[in-house]
Amino acid sequence: METKAGDPAAFAHFDLYRVPSPAFVVDEAAIRRNLSILADVRDRAGIKVLGALKAFSMWSLGSIVGEYLDGVCASGLYEARLGREEYQGEVATYCAAYKPADLAEILTISDHVIFNSPGQIARFKPQIDAARAAGHSFDIGLRINPQNPEGEVAKYDPSQPHSRLGFPVSQLTPDHLASVDGIHFHNLCEQDLAPLERTWAAVEPHILPHLSSLKWLNFGGGHHITRADYQRDDLVAFLQGVKAQTGLTLYLEPGEAMALDAGILVGEILDVIDNGMAVAITDISATCHMPDVIEAPYRPAMLHEPSDGPLTRLGGPSCLAGDIIGDYRVPGGAEPGARIAFLDQAHYSMVKTNTFNGVPLPAIWLWNSTTDKLTEIRAFSYQDFKARLS
Ligand SMILES: Cc1ncc(COP(=O)(O)O)c(C=O)c1O
Repeated sequence: METKAGDPAAFAHFDLYRVPSPAFVVDEAAIRRNLSILADVRDRAGIKVLGALKAFSMWSLGSIVGEYLDGVCASGLYEARLGREEYQGEVATYCAAYKPADLAEILTISDHVIFNSPGQIARFKPQIDAARAAGHSFDIGLRINPQNPEGEVAKYDPSQPHSRLGFPVSQLTPDHLASVDGIHFHNLCEQDLAPLERTWAAVEPHILPHLSSLKWLNFGGGHHITRADYQRDDLVAFLQGVKAQTGLTLYLEPGEAMALDAGILVGEILDVIDNGMAVAITDISATCHMPDVIEAPYRPAMLHEPSDGPLTRLGGPSCLAGDIIGDYRVPGGAEPGARIAFLDQAHYSMVKTNTFNGVPLPAIWLWNSTTDKLTEIRAFSYQDFKARLS
């Protein structure tokens, strides 16, 4: 999988020795830049934009997100709670399947509760009615599956055959929407406008007959809106068109776009050996700190990597033979003690870290590239590792 980001932006001038290693460093100015682009699209199109916490839930920036966006979208109870506690505006919760106890709380803290199937909505009707009778006010949504594959990689495509994500749109009947206020789909990943337009074209004939009973449509995330070459004016025109056509409130819920190119993961080379090529062990682990490197897989861009010079294979300190980040030309040479940084790590890395092998979690630092203010937000210790086990 090719990553379309990787612009060092202000990090080109960041001294990697200013923070302990390993550490995520997030640039507040870059986050604000992304959020203001999203807010501009929102305002021009007359829609609502929610930030997807699954991608970027650095909640110390919750009030900053609230300055620009209409709220957040959550993947279940914990993110919904985080959204309500630390962010402003609406909370829209979608989960592929709810457990009754979780749903009870979700219904009290969410503005939109989005279900994956009409079967779940019917099964939970008594609980939904009881929550409303107790004074809680929320909309019910149904996630549909557009059955329109657009993904570059099948395993990341919600429209893959036999997908579990969303109710197949071709099966939709008026009965399924009897108690539904809005329709949700999420079909994209790091994509441009054209796949969204094709997805809308695929679902539109199935949705138009039901407009009179609906309040809103949510087009999910995966829109790479803050990438420099994204077709933002065309997106605005497209959204204005759908809004005029349907008369409904439209939502987008981008995650990655909030934090695109806004953070790095700083690490240090601990040792270098020769095994047919230079192999360096770093204090960054692919499996613990950047699992998408193995899962996607993809090769994260490295800050200041020269275009020629000897390649070094970089890997983490864990026991996993496949804990390999990739082969890189390390700027200044791969020597113990040398600092390195991987670009575009604010989203889908910080939220996915784990402590396999007892590998320490990277600290979280906030930098403001405009003022140069640098603040430690959180450091992790042995206690954080121990607290997750028993
Ligand atoms: C339902 C839903 N909404 C929003 C998003 C955010 O997507 P992205 O971070 O690619 O914008 C995702 C990502 O998987 C998702 O599943």
